Amino acid sequence: RVSTWEEVTGYKDTPLLELWAILRGRLSRVDIIATELWQLNRTWVFQGNGVPLQPQTMLLDEGHERLYVGAKNALFSLSLDQVNTQHREIQWASSELQIEECLRKGREKMECANYIKVLQQYNQTHLLVCGTASFNPICAWVHVGHTGKVSPCSTELLSFHLPESITSGKGRCPFSHNSPCTSTLSGGELYVGLYTDYWENDAALCRLNNRTYTRTERDDRQQLNEPRFVGSAVIPDNDDKDDDKVYFFFTEREVDAEGLYKAVYTRVGRVCANDQGGQRMLVNRWSSFLKTRLICSVAGPDGIDTHFDQLEDVYVLKNKDGKNPEIFGLFSTTSAVFKGYAVCVYHMDDIRAAFNGPFAFRERPEHHWTPSEDKVPYPRPGSCASKINGGGFSSSKEFPDEVLRFVRSHPMMYRPVLPQHRRPVFLQTQPRRRKLTQIAVDRVQAQDGHYHVLYIGTDDSLVLKVITIYNKDIDTMEEVLLEELQVILNILPVFIFSGCQQKLYVGSDAGVAQVQLHHCALYGSECADCCLARDPYCAWDGFTCSRYYPSGVYTKRRFRRQDILHGNAVQLCNGLQIDGEWKRKTVFGVEGNSTLLSCVPRSLHAKVLWFLQRGDDKQEVSVDERVIWTSHGLLLLSLTSSDAGIYMCQTVEHGYVHTLLRVTLHVLSGETLASAISPRNLVPASLPGSHSRQWYKEFLQLIDYRDAQRVEEYCEKVWCPDKKRKKNKKKFLPSSGEKKAKSRAAAANHRAPRHVLGN
Ligand SMILES: *[C@@H]1O[C@H](CO)[C@@H](O)[C@H](O)[C@H]1NC(C)=O
Ligand SMILES: *[C@@H]1O[C@H](CO)[C@@H](O)[C@H](O)[C@H]1NC(C)=O
Ligand SMILES: *[C@@H]1O[C@H](CO)[C@@H](O)[C@H](O)[C@H]1NC(C)=O
Ligand SMILES: *[C@@H]1O[C@H](CO)[C@@H](O)[C@H](O)[C@H]1NC(C)=O
Repeated sequence: RVSTWEEVTGYKDTPLLELWAILRGRLSRVDIIATELWQLNRTWVFQGNGVPLQPQTMLLDEGHERLYVGAKNALFSLSLDQVNTQHREIQWASSELQIEECLRKGREKMECANYIKVLQQYNQTHLLVCGTASFNPICAWVHVGHTGKVSPCSTELLSFHLPESITSGKGRCPFSHNSPCTSTLSGGELYVGLYTDYWENDAALCRLNNRTYTRTERDDRQQLNEPRFVGSAVIPDNDDKDDDKVYFFFTEREVDAEGLYKAVYTRVGRVCANDQGGQRMLVNRWSSFLKTRLICSVAGPDGIDTHFDQLEDVYVLKNKDGKNPEIFGLFSTTSAVFKGYAVCVYHMDDIRAAFNGPFAFRERPEHHWTPSEDKVPYPRPGSCASKINGGGFSSSKEFPDEVLRFVRSHPMMYRPVLPQHRRPVFLQTQPRRRKLTQIAVDRVQAQDGHYHVLYIGTDDSLVLKVITIYNKDIDTMEEVLLEELQVILNILPVFIFSGCQQKLYVGSDAGVAQVQLHHCALYGSECADCCLARDPYCAWDGFTCSRYYPSGVYTKRRFRRQDILHGNAVQLCNGLQIDGEWKRKTVFGVEGNSTLLSCVPRSLHAKVLWFLQRGDDKQEVSVDERVIWTSHGLLLLSLTSSDAGIYMCQTVEHGYVHTLLRVTLHVLSGETLASAISPRNLVPASLPGSHSRQWYKEFLQLIDYRDAQRVEEYCEKVWCPDKKRKKNKKKFLPSSGEKKAKSRAAAANHRAPRHVLGN
């Protein structure tokens, strides 16, 4: 049951009613469970040989077609193509001495191990890998190039081993395995947000190479206050590399205006990649660190907004030139009463505008922030020493002292960053339901435009595949849940995403699963099914639902039908419905007994309607104590002869009416049946469709599956003397048309019980 907005917040008449209506009706069309993903070969799983993995360290190497993942005392290299084959492993445990030392400090045995926390591509041939090494962090450069040129695909030739030289990891890698940490590597420099010390008191944003160490100020709660690091990325501003900025996404605490409640806020912070710190002051400290708040909220009535302030995960969706990626944040509420999740999207223009806006100022921590009225010195604090912005300074060491002093005292911007369309693109506000923990995003070209396909991971190991559609005309957001994929059981997943491979890699401490992003055939083979699915990866090609390629990429098939924006099957698929033989069937019921007219729609969104046709008269079947609507179909109890007729099962979805099935129900009197079953009655001429094979088939439909064996035996005995058996057996097999129908129906009804009558 979905709670209403009113129940959750106590608000009435919210402008969000539309969104809520969408949420309430939300269910994926197709619900797929792990076993089905297996059978379809859509997923493969690498199980870490019982070694707990550190999935936050997963690293994609498309050049070598490998996926690296850190673990406890180990590092794995997996095949991108199929993660469960050809894996390589580096064992990297702490020495006995280190473990003893760690235990002596009073740490648990479990903590005294080498947990990989930093894993980055250093250059084309080397990874930078750092581990906690029993509270004594260490780093190494691991060679991953090919050792020979014979066969680049054979793992035998891939180098993957630990080097001789191990360096200290202090300042690069946290001490503890569960310490929050984010890192990114660019131009041979590691940028990292972490707690640098044993006691986890000193949080810092740092840059390290083997000569310099630049970081945020120590013990400066203005710069960082109990931060939780979530993500980071290097994003260029323009074509001048000296203007490249490093962005950090994190949450931190702030004493609010009352000075009592330490609220959690989400921040985006940034520094110049080329920042060398100051010469006389801010030595080895960032001379460009600024931060501001990321807002993700839903407008309520009376101007009271619901804020989602806890950043759970962030995904930077790169664009072609790399300068304007879209930033997707997955947020949760911090309220103990109302738990909700939201995805907000941020544009770089808006982020840059906030950093170019007024600086924030407040007299004391318990005061409100106001725009700073201090004179802003030149070059503008926070700008990089570059040709375009830096006023001709070749290094931040040349910046005037007043610039450094200003940036030191004004790290906070006054304007927050608001999301695209001023609202979340995705909301989940059902209390006590699953937690959302991860997000990855793919940009997909469809016939009617680009779509963002969101992959959202939950704490019960589901992957929700969602598209969100913004309607400009009425300023509303529609979210369409395309698929719910159950990947591995009982895990907290972490994602990494390969557009090149069209795969999502889902990591947990138990293993890594790869999932193909699309499986269009699952939606069914008909135009309407494909169209209603609204999956931008898929289109109807005249025969079946298959992968959609934008024209130019795949030109052979001209005939493609797809309508992601509206899912208008009525318009798109008119006249394309196959009204095949398989949709008609005959069912025999026995007077006084019950019978089930089975009809399960493929889509979980569809509403089922039943009609009864007698002659020209067609009426909706009314439900009463004898006629029961079940999720498997229509159940008729205690049949009477007046129940006979033609029943039609129709589904309505998105305004599209689809006749799934036409069942002709015959009701037999008890005596007719008794005489029919009698072994003396070899040819049951008294029954409709009188010749024997037809009768046999219909008889099978009549009785319950469990009795089929008995009937089979009976019929064999009666109709099939030894010499004829072989021939008749062949005859009794379903014709190819029926076979097709069966497999289609089977594909259609994932959850259809096997024993239902018919088919
Ligand atoms: C899945 O893969 C196995 C072995 O690689 C193969 O035998 C099977 O036919 C495949 N199944 C499907 C549905 O493609
Ligand atoms: C990559 O970095 C390693 C470690 O510093 C170095 O030995 C190697 O030569 C570098 N490779 C390339 C191709 O730059
Ligand atoms: C470390 O610095 C030295 C010079 O100080 C340089 O020769 C060497 O290449 C650097 N190593 C790396 C891995 O950057
Ligand atoms: C019909 O119902 C009667 C009595 O309820 C029962 O004995 C009989 O087995 C049923 N017949 C079939 C074919 O289910």
